Amino acid sequence: MTESNANQMWGGRFQMSPAEIMEQINASIDFDKRMAREDIAGSKVHAAMLAATGIITDGDRQAIDKGLDQVLDEIEAGSFEYSRALEDVHMNIEARLKALIGEAAGRLHTARSRNDQVATDFRLYVRGQIDLFDRALAVLQLALAQKAEAHAATVMPGFTHLQPAQPVTFGHHLLAYVEMIGRDRGRFQDARRRLNECPLGAAALAGTSFPIDREQTARELGFDKPTANSLDSVSDRDFVMETLAAATITAVHLSRLSEEIVLWVTPQFGFLTLSDRFTTGSSIMPQKRNPDAAELCRAKVGRIAGALQSLVLVMKGLPLAYSKDMQEDKEVAFDALDSLRLVIAAAAGMVEDMQPVPEAMQRAAGYGYSTATDLADWLVRELKMPFRQAHHATGSIVALAETQGVDLSELTLEAMQSAESGITADVFSVLSVDNSVASRTSYGGTAPHNVQKMAAKWVGQLENDLKRV
Ligand code: ARG
Repeated sequence: MTESNANQMWGGRFQMSPAEIMEQINASIDFDKRMAREDIAGSKVHAAMLAATGIITDGDRQAIDKGLDQVLDEIEAGSFEYSRALEDVHMNIEARLKALIGEAAGRLHTARSRNDQVATDFRLYVRGQIDLFDRALAVLQLALAQKAEAHAATVMPGFTHLQPAQPVTFGHHLLAYVEMIGRDRGRFQDARRRLNECPLGAAALAGTSFPIDREQTARELGFDKPTANSLDSVSDRDFVMETLAAATITAVHLSRLSEEIVLWVTPQFGFLTLSDRFTTGSSIMPQKRNPDAAELCRAKVGRIAGALQSLVLVMKGLPLAYSKDMQEDKEVAFDALDSLRLVIAAAAGMVEDMQPVPEAMQRAAGYGYSTATDLADWLVRELKMPFRQAHHATGSIVALAETQGVDLSELTLEAMQSAESGITADVFSVLSVDNSVASRTSYGGTAPHNVQKMAAKWVGQLENDLKRV
């Protein structure tokens, strides 16, 4: 093609259309169209500022505003026609605006570049996602804390190395996740604080000669202030990397929760049941009930962590300021953030759905001589034995029980005394799993009274959080 207007966007300088393959590798409209709302919000605020500073007329501003409203309506209604030839969401919207309002549309891009425009749009988008995560994570925490309150005294085995270690309560175990997710929310909030500066007005990279008011656009888009360096403004994607890092850690936490659900619903553990709502059957084995939701939550961390990795590698070694490489930030981020939203919702659903089997947990809590530490502590407390010596003595008593094939509490007093002569019948009072958990009253410990208090505190706080957000 050689006609001078063959190139829809750059007809002034360019005489030919891009090669088909160029259009394919270059166009981002297929994925960045999901920032259309943010793009229009940014343009409206930009136009208002241009009018307020006298850079465009009020008449143009009104035409632009009305035109953008119509574009938004078309997008919401699904009637907007996106064109790949127009590369991205910014150019698609501007072209449609021009078709609707004519010449005034051409003034919108005064003192602006797609470089600061895309940086602004993406910040707005990511900020919106962070706000959704905060609420979804609070819902998940509340589900965990409510279950913890109901099961503050339900005894189960605590594991290290996935070997029975010491008895804990189910409520305590669930509250561990409430703490983890609390930190996740904190990380998202930290990212949000640093993200919340407005790059609009940095223009292509150097700022602009027009007398713009960056404070105004920043304020109207809900940012705390404008970014301070125009080069940094258009070349920074820290806000995406930070958000993906926070998303990755959250996904890691939820994959650990999911793994425990997968283990605990096996007949071998039998600690939990999930209903039909969060399980699937097998096409060949009629008896099966598979925890697919938990498995998929466990797996999604792969693509979320992958997105972080991908963006870090895109950004590595990029010279300042903008390079087209940075367009590769979006697809992976969208996918990762979508995935995380799904994982959080599925996790909350499973937590609400899960029913513990207290008898199975209680039974398993006694396996593997799990109260041996209680015996050693008794020797320290009652016989004033140094802990190391008590550890050794208890080790021989465990060995004895193992040889006899019995539990610690099933050993006779005489058998105990053969290993440590000072032992009295009082020792049996600490060997039950219930006494064991009840004795862990140190701050943050698993004693049911502690767990009850901590769970109630969380429930109150989370109910408040959810009223606010
Ligand atoms: N679609 C582009 C992106 O996502 C917008 C910025 C394009 N800027 C440019 N100078 N080509 O990064």
